[in-house]
Amino acid sequence: AGERDLAGRRVVISAGGTREPLDPVRFLGNHSSGKQGYALARAAVARGAQVTLVAANTALPDPAGATVVPVSTTRELAEAVTEAARGADVVVMAAAVADFRPVRVATGKIKKRDGVDPEPIALERNPDILAGLAAPGADRPAVVVGFAAETDDVLASGRAKLARKGCDLLVVNEVGGGRAFGTEDNEAVLLDARGGERHVPYGPKDVLADAVWDAVAAEPALS
Ligand code: C5P
Repeated sequence: AGERDLAGRRVVISAGGTREPLDPVRFLGNHSSGKQGYALARAAVARGAQVTLVAANTALPDPAGATVVPVSTTRELAEAVTEAARGADVVVMAAAVADFRPVRVATGKIKKRDGVDPEPIALERNPDILAGLAAPGADRPAVVVGFAAETDDVLASGRAKLARKGCDLLVVNEVGGGRAFGTEDNEAVLLDARGGERHVPYGPKDVLADAVWDAVAAEPALS
């Protein structure tokens, strides 16, 4: 990979995990720290890209040289990514996005009452941001990258997801056993839409970030 091989490229990265409010003090969320997305942003800046980082509920220092847009819910993330993606060359969806959100958000704190069973929480689907970005159209970024956390049949599930979402690259993490979420290290397989695959052994998230940008830079749509 060339030192500044992303010079002049506009890239958008989502990081962290979305939260879906239940009431003013509670939410449904996930354990994503945002570390892999931030590592991607630092690496892209180092390689010369103009970087927008859409950060969902992270507690990490802003990467120098990137524009950081803080968000919380999936709908906020969708809006910020869609806006930043207009005219961008590359979008990388590293954020862990809630698939569902509560249908109702209570305006006041939900209270427990003696002898009264709690109400069930009704959920509805969130939009699939990645699939929307990857759909064919005049505005489609040249390269759209997704992440997938899989526990079994990692490669077959990854291939199916790449095709289903229509993205150009998919970074497949094997999760479970304390791996990936919140840790400093990651292991992944990078799949491309032309049938290529590259295994990145367990190691620092910075190393995986550079491997992702190597794969992005090698995409025919960017050259
Ligand atoms: O379907 P799954 O959640 O496994 O797909 C993960 C990929 O899709 C990630 O890149 C994630 O950021 C993205 N995603 C999304 N919108 C959703 C759910 C996931 O963009 N509603």
